[in-house]
Amino acid sequence: MHSYKILQLTDTHLFDSDEYSMYGVKTNKNFADTLKFIKGKDFNFNAIFLTGDISQDKTPKSYIMIAEMLSFFNKTIYWIPGNHDDSTIMAEVFSKYELFKQGRSFFIERINWHFIFCDSTFPNKDSGYLRDNAIAELSRSLHNANASSCISMIMHHHPIKVGVSLIDKYILENADIFWEQITQSKKQVKIVICGHVHGDYDLENNGIRVISCPATSLQFGRGTSKSDVDNIPGFKLWKFSLEGNFSYETYFIR
Ligand SMILES: [Fe+2]
Repeated sequence: MHSYKILQLTDTHLFDSDEYSMYGVKTNKNFADTLKFIKGKDFNFNAIFLTGDISQDKTPKSYIMIAEMLSFFNKTIYWIPGNHDDSTIMAEVFSKYELFKQGRSFFIERINWHFIFCDSTFPNKDSGYLRDNAIAELSRSLHNANASSCISMIMHHHPIKVGVSLIDKYILENADIFWEQITQSKKQVKIVICGHVHGDYDLENNGIRVISCPATSLQFGRGTSKSDVDNIPGFKLWKFSLEGNFSYETYFIR
């Protein structure tokens, strides 16, 4: 079986009560509907990537809720924080769940792919910013990756503009350092996977694909400068295989 399938869930924006809403959307319900949809399919994924903005209210209960709900799948869940998360509370709650692992880097030998996670959050900032320790970790992970293997980067913030002014305001601010590290490493980075933008975008920068996953909470309208939202949950299913191949399917529910 020379492939590795990943379920990507992002920007769930959960509250400690199902009654609360964001932009008029009940995000807990949309997440529950998403899981119900996934459970009804035979996706057979190997792992889950949870790419930030998990909680909207930063409460321990919101993190406990998602941990309990995702434990159902009995797969490893690699998580990174988003700008709306409290990474201390998040880490504290998730450390109590065996299946939850903070995203750092791992290698799947049978498909020859490295997965390298970046924490793109900066305290009290909604835009992304790679802190010194995140840059050092990125540099170390790239250095340690085999030159003959392919690499997928995973981060919350988008490192290039998606063309939506509402969300491009909150881009990864020091993206130049990120791209510089990748270029300098001379390693085979094929793709950057992100969340944060609340929409599905498939872009390219210097021959590297930059692909975002729709949120399970709500999507922002394309090309908008206002807060236009679509109350449609979405997610992605990834498939990575040998010789640097990857593909994905984007799902919207409703
Ligand atoms: Fe975000």
